[in-house]
Amino acid sequence: MRSFRNLVVTATAVVVGILTLTASPVAASPAVSYNNTLISQRADPHIYKHTDGFYYFTATVPAYDKVVMRRSQTIMGLSNAAETTIFARKRSGVGSGYIWAPEIHYIDNKWYIYVAMGLASQGGWGIRMTVLEGTGSNPLTAQWVEKGVIRTNRDTFNLDASTFVAGGTRYLIWAQTEGDGTAILIAPLQNPWTIRGTPTIITRPDQPWERVNERVNEGAYVIQKNGKIFLTYSAAATDSNYCMGLVTADANADLMKASSWTKSKTPVFVSNAKTSQWGPGHNSFTVSEDGQSDIMVYHDRGYKNINGSPLNNPDRRTRVQKLYWKADGTPDFGIPVPDGPTPVRLRSYTTPTLFVTHRNSVHMDANAALADTQFRIIRPGLAGGSTVSLESTSEPGSFLRRSGSAMQLVAKQNSAAFNADASFNQREGLAGSAGVSFEASGAAGQYLRAEGGNNALVVGAVAEAQRESATFVLE
Ligand SMILES: *[C@@H]1O[C@H](CO)[C@@H](O)[C@H](O)[C@H]1NC(C)=O
Repeated sequence: MRSFRNLVVTATAVVVGILTLTASPVAASPAVSYNNTLISQRADPHIYKHTDGFYYFTATVPAYDKVVMRRSQTIMGLSNAAETTIFARKRSGVGSGYIWAPEIHYIDNKWYIYVAMGLASQGGWGIRMTVLEGTGSNPLTAQWVEKGVIRTNRDTFNLDASTFVAGGTRYLIWAQTEGDGTAILIAPLQNPWTIRGTPTIITRPDQPWERVNERVNEGAYVIQKNGKIFLTYSAAATDSNYCMGLVTADANADLMKASSWTKSKTPVFVSNAKTSQWGPGHNSFTVSEDGQSDIMVYHDRGYKNINGSPLNNPDRRTRVQKLYWKADGTPDFGIPVPDGPTPVRLRSYTTPTLFVTHRNSVHMDANAALADTQFRIIRPGLAGGSTVSLESTSEPGSFLRRSGSAMQLVAKQNSAAFNADASFNQREGLAGSAGVSFEASGAAGQYLRAEGGNNALVVGAVAEAQRESATFVLE
């Protein structure tokens, strides 16, 4: 079986290889353009794109006292869309304490919000996952009824329910106290508010990075691609130690067997001092407006140190960035990108595995870390007018700059010469309109292009045969 599968994989790779060689490069996943922060003071964000063309947004509010929702036909439109309260804290009983991490799902023609609710008006840690059911085409105006607490096999602290369908079965995943921390569990759903059978533990906080200040696995979410089920979750205390982990299963595996899930031993998404992003996590996934890119939605803070308890700090904010995929079919989370417009990658026009990177030298590379291949296209560029400049994502404040015919990554200097050397005119691709070319500012006819065995980036005149090496596909 195994060798047959390998054969299929190899055959597929050969076919893809032939397509790559014969067809002009297809931008499978064009660049996206968003602007972070998307929404301030909204944690545990969930964005769901429905078949009606709207994005629906829910999140935790700092007062932990309601379920809010927004909708917009674009992701950026959510940032200033009106916010509707779907559920407000009650005086007693289920929903009278903390209200955390709502997620909206559409199941069998009805809306469901999975949301963790405190059971007691005194607040405290009596938290259980609950379900609201909405009837009506627009969830902002739907009739909502409480379906109550989702019962599991043990009546203990639990939260952060999410749901997905695989192999024709709908599953619930959630976090619940297990041993000395909270683990991620899974069970099939018999209906949207009732699990079936005995839950299975998928991951528990057994790695040092999952046990910093708090022993936590929570905030699970699933994205399915390339024959795999990728389950992300968040770990450690909800301060700057918060980070994301990944557990993976084959799409056709028995998801109720713990051994079907393989856990990454290291976190996949962590704080980044250079980009000033701290404690990223509690993510979900959505898709870009054109449906072609996967978008990761998450929260973090813009500073490292919190005064007092993280629970009393309101500054977790909703962010979005493109989720990339490695050649082996696994997700590449990269780093939390800096605030402001999201970056892009500059892919080779002819070789889809090669990207412009600045690591070690400015060249094109198939193996550079994602963040070292991401650049923000600044408009206008440092030279102003209609120019653009290319700012590094992993080294914010550093720009691609020409020095003679060579290209370097250099920290911004306050001089007209620097601004000119770090500015380009973005043109339609010299090899075709699927790509773009960058003509040096103030040096007509001199373009950015890759040259030689190392694919070093240089700036120079472009002969007919060099047009492809001077054309980049934005991804
Ligand atoms: C991005 O958002 C910031 C803060 O809201 C704003 O100042 C800036 O103009 C936006 N940039 C773009 C390109 O929309």
